[in-house]
Amino acid sequence: MSSNIQQILPAAIKAGYLNKEQALAAFVDTGGVTQTISALHEAFPDHFEHTFAAKANTMVRALNLVKETGMGCEVASHGELEQALRAGFEPEKIVYDEPAKTKDILHKVLSNGIALNIDNFQEFERLESLVRETASQSRIGFRINPQIGAGSITAMSTATMSSKFGVALDDEGNRTALLDCYKANRWLRSIHTHIGSQGCSLDLMIAGIRKVVDLAEEINSAIGIQQIEVIDIGGGLPVNFDCDEVKPTFGDYAGELKRHVPELFSGKYTVKTEFGRSIFAKNGFIATRIEYTKNSGGRQIALSHAGVQIAARTVFMPDHWKIRLSVFDSAGQAKTGKEVLQDIAGPCCFAGDMIGTARNLPLIEPGDYVVLHDTGAYYFSNPYYYNSLPAPAVYGVDNLNGAAVNFTVWRQQQTLDQTLAVVG
Ligand SMILES: Cc1ncc(COP(=O)(O)O)c(C=O)c1O
Repeated sequence: MSSNIQQILPAAIKAGYLNKEQALAAFVDTGGVTQTISALHEAFPDHFEHTFAAKANTMVRALNLVKETGMGCEVASHGELEQALRAGFEPEKIVYDEPAKTKDILHKVLSNGIALNIDNFQEFERLESLVRETASQSRIGFRINPQIGAGSITAMSTATMSSKFGVALDDEGNRTALLDCYKANRWLRSIHTHIGSQGCSLDLMIAGIRKVVDLAEEINSAIGIQQIEVIDIGGGLPVNFDCDEVKPTFGDYAGELKRHVPELFSGKYTVKTEFGRSIFAKNGFIATRIEYTKNSGGRQIALSHAGVQIAARTVFMPDHWKIRLSVFDSAGQAKTGKEVLQDIAGPCCFAGDMIGTARNLPLIEPGDYVVLHDTGAYYFSNPYYYNSLPAPAVYGVDNLNGAAVNFTVWRQQQTLDQTLAVVG
C-alpha cells in the first residue's frame, strides 16, 4: 500500500479532497481490496463460502465492492443487516451473528431465509416456535465457544473460558445438551465458531476449530445422518501492522488448516468463513493535516485532526493497536531528512488522545500531512462522537495504474448540522 499512498495522497491534495477546511480524510484502494479477495478465493477450494464481516467496514460502498467479488456478508446488528441488503447482498448470502438478538430481529432473519448463528440456549428456546411460525428455510446452528484460551489481546479473544460468546463447550452438561438439541431438531444444520480477532495465532484458531469440527462429527454420527452440513469457522486472520508485508497470508492459513483439520477440505461440509480485518486493513489509510507543532518539556509535538473519533482502539489501547505513521509535505510528497522524536496528538480534549508517541520521524511542520497506515478496517468506518467531531470523508480510489487516479465519494465529511443531529 505504501507505493499506492505515494500516488493517492498528492492526487487527493491536488483534487482538493484534503485541505485546510477538510483536514482529515480516509481512502480505500478498491483495486487492493479486490486483489485481496482474489487471494482469499485462490487460497481455499470452491466449497469454502467466504463472507465478509461487515463490522470491519460497514459502509454500503465497501459492502457493495465486496459483493461484486462474489463474497457473502456476515452481519451483527439490525443496522449492519440493512447496510448489507442496501449493498445488494441476496438474503441467502448473509449470515446473522449477534449475542443479544431480539425477537423482532430473529423474526426478520428467519422470514428472509438469512443464515443464523445461535448464541445461547435461551435464544434457541425462542427459535423453536419462531422457526415453525415462519416456515423458515434459514440455515441455523449454534455458535460454539471451544474454550481454548486467549490470544495476545484479551478484549479481542472470544474463546476464553468465560467468553460472552456462544455456548461454552466444556462446561458441565453443555455437550450433551447440544447433542440433544441437534437430535431433536432437524432444522439445526450448521455449527459456528470464531476464536478471536487480531492477536490470535493460527495455532490457537486452528485448535478451536479442531474442537468444533470434532463436535460436528460426533453429532452427525450420533444422529446417523449428516445433519450438520455447514461449518462456519469465523474470521480472525491477524493483520501485520508493522510493515507493508501481508503475513500471515490466506495461503498460510489454508495450509495449516488443511494439515490439522483435513475434514474441512474433503468436500463433506460447506465451509463458511467471516474475514474482516484481513480484507480491508491494508487497503485503506487515513491522512490528517497538521495544524500546529510545539515543544513541551523537551518533546516535539504535532497537533493533528486524527484522534479518538476515528482511531478509538489505538488511542485507548496504544500498546495493542500501535499503527505506523508517515510524514508527507503539504503537496503530499514523502518527507525525508533527519528523524526527530515526536508525539502525534489528536484534536480531542483529553491527554490520552494520541495517535503516536515517541516516534522517530522527519520533523513534522504545520501544513504537513501524517498518514495512519493499515487503517482500512475498524477505523474510519466506525466513527466515535467524542467532542462532537464530524465523521470524516471517505473516498474509494481506483485506476491507480491508469492515466489518472480516480476518486469516488463513499462518504462526505459530516456537516456540523449532521454531526449535531447524531449527537443530539
Ligand atoms: C463473529 C465474528 N466473525 C467475524 C469477525 C471478524 O473478525 P476479523 O475482522 O478479525 O476477521 C468478528 C469480529 O469481531 C466476529 O465477531
